[in-house]
Amino acid sequence: MRDSVKVFAPATVANVVCGFDVLGFAVNAPGDEVVMKRSATPGVVISKITGDDGRLPLDPAKNTVSASVQNYLKHIGRPDVGVDIELHKKMPIGSGLGSSSASTVAGLFAINTLMDNQLSNKEMVPFAMKGEELACGYGHADNVAPALLGGFVLVRSYEPLDVISLPFPEALCAAIVYPEVDVPTKDARQMIRSKVLLKDAVKQWGNVAGLVTGLFTNDYDLIGRSMVDVLVEPTRSILIPDFYKMRAIAMEMGAISFGISGSGPSVFALTKDEETASKITSALQKQLKSIQINSLSFVSPVNKKGPVVLD
Ligand code: HSE
Repeated sequence: MRDSVKVFAPATVANVVCGFDVLGFAVNAPGDEVVMKRSATPGVVISKITGDDGRLPLDPAKNTVSASVQNYLKHIGRPDVGVDIELHKKMPIGSGLGSSSASTVAGLFAINTLMDNQLSNKEMVPFAMKGEELACGYGHADNVAPALLGGFVLVRSYEPLDVISLPFPEALCAAIVYPEVDVPTKDARQMIRSKVLLKDAVKQWGNVAGLVTGLFTNDYDLIGRSMVDVLVEPTRSILIPDFYKMRAIAMEMGAISFGISGSGPSVFALTKDEETASKITSALQKQLKSIQINSLSFVSPVNKKGPVVLD
């Protein structure tokens, strides 16, 4: 039985443009790390957080990592277990890349490893969703499910929860750019209309079905033309500097598709190869620089592993 473990969990691109709250995929980088050690005293303690500029709570009931670990221990009937947690943020907070999700998933994977893998990764999705609820007020699964399972994931239903791993073309690559402007998920959710027109819903579910079919059949053209969002993007794109200019640049340079990652402000393009993705991130960062916005970029194929033990 292990006494300590160090875990990495990946960032994720949720929504994948047309699949608000139902589609997401994991990337290899960035991601977060959790170091968890057993302690003699029962209870969950967060002893250290790095890389968050003091923004995240150390209170175990308020921090998504410790709260999820507490829920996990309660569920398996071991509230007597004591652990000490260090969270190392290796990715920006409020970026639309599933930052809270990566931390929560790293914590859950760590405690599950210390407890001899009593639950499968899929069984941990509801615990990670509770963490999202704490972080942004709503327990959506389109970040946590791909972070836990790796790959491309469809959340077919929330009640009851039905999470399905999808195939995807091997060469698919994501070009991600994070403009350094703050867009908290909670705010980005509040600004969306809660009612939609039937004609818009028809377009949206046609596109979700088209995207899933394209993933199954390796049809890049179908993937590209299906990644259109008539429900959420028109509102949220307002918060992202030069969003439509960046789309035009990415598409001109050979992207299959372009859109908002999760609730933004990160944007992403899908490409058929890494070289095109790298060129696109450079061009998008140049565009942002021209309007005095700093940015970070990441290029990654779809992550197949989900969380991993580092040490
Ligand atoms: N589906 C969620 C949203 C993802 O768009 O609000 C948050 O990253």
